Amino acid sequence: MVIALGVTGGIGAYKAVEVARGLQKRGHDVVAIMTHSARRFVGEVTFEAITRRPVITDQFARGANADIEHIALATDASLLLVAPATANVIGKFANGIADDFLTSLYLATRAPVLMAPAMNTNMLEHAAVQRNLQTLASRGVRFVDPGEGFLACGWIGKGRLAEPDAIVAAAERILHPSGSLLGRRIVISAGPTFEDLDPVRFIGNRSSGRMGYAIAAESARRGAHVVLVSGPTKLDAPAGALVERVRSAAEMAQAMGTHAAGADAVVMAAAVADYTPAHALDSKMPKGDGPLQITLVRTQDILAELGRRRGDAPLPLLVGFAAETGDPRARARQKLQAKHVDLIVANDVSRSDAGFDVETNAAILISADGEVDTPLQLKSELASTIIDRIEQMLSTRAAAAKQS
Ligand code: CTP
Repeated sequence: MVIALGVTGGIGAYKAVEVARGLQKRGHDVVAIMTHSARRFVGEVTFEAITRRPVITDQFARGANADIEHIALATDASLLLVAPATANVIGKFANGIADDFLTSLYLATRAPVLMAPAMNTNMLEHAAVQRNLQTLASRGVRFVDPGEGFLACGWIGKGRLAEPDAIVAAAERILHPSGSLLGRRIVISAGPTFEDLDPVRFIGNRSSGRMGYAIAAESARRGAHVVLVSGPTKLDAPAGALVERVRSAAEMAQAMGTHAAGADAVVMAAAVADYTPAHALDSKMPKGDGPLQITLVRTQDILAELGRRRGDAPLPLLVGFAAETGDPRARARQKLQAKHVDLIVANDVSRSDAGFDVETNAAILISADGEVDTPLQLKSELASTIIDRIEQMLSTRAAAAKQS
């Protein structure tokens, strides 16, 4: 398969040589494209020797235009991989700026796109870069997260290019997807919602998003097409998931409504606010002398609405969570019925080792068939248990659909 390897001007550019070699060892044909500044870090001859192909450095090079090269490569490439990806190229991709070969190729290709960002920690955390990364993620661009360590600029922090092996492995996963959920579309919500009172204050909750993110990561690892609708969290996007970030319950309802259509399973792991201020003020609310009364109105119950919409159709499989203080069984069973869902993951959030904002969780999986207790385990392990159950329920449904 032809892989277009974009190399941009970061100190990690030398590691792209190892990436090219790794891809070639796995039988891929690599076409290296170097931006103007990449050539200040590594010589194009190095890539030429490894890929045994001319390196593309100029959109208008003589001899390269008879078969308009970026269009030809855009069609031939099975993957566009950019490693290292600087803040600059991320910004250009996000905003559709096409002022050289690589950025034009991004617009012209329909191949999947994988980027390995590398830059100084402050640059990576800058709102402009974060926003561009989110824009690209919402368009389906995949990322290999930068690692932490000593940066060339002398800092210690996040921003170092991921290791070549990890980049090659991520590329392989895109080129040869495999796993028990291959071909399945799973939509997951995670995190809290924030309901604004005024421009500086909001009502939120303690959900960290870890449980939903772990389910998204595990589903993607098993080959599913994953959409993660996330409330405000500090977590990095799980590899391979398409992330849509939202803030309020209303925004989450809208996003889930859109993505649930055509999904095989929907997992509502988000801690959605049940109430929102009747009126959010446009300017900051001044304090008064007496007590303050705020009128809250009910938000839409997203899960119940999805249950209502699905009716008796077999899909999407609907999974909800029930966070209760004390033994969750009775209320969870009520929720299973009232919201018309297939599986409730119930837990007791009054425990200090389970529920909100901790790494571990213990849960009871409740469905029409009965209850299964899971032991206290890492959220990533519980995610696996939940997905095993979802897979089982999906295959039962597929078998039933065949018989009918
Ligand atoms: N949920 C939802 N929309 C809401 C509130 C909750 O989709 N507006 C979903 C949650 O994501 C979770 C499930 O419903 O999967 C159960 O949420 P929980 O807060 O435990 O229960 P509630 O139904 O809100 O009931 P209560 O707060 O009265 O216990």
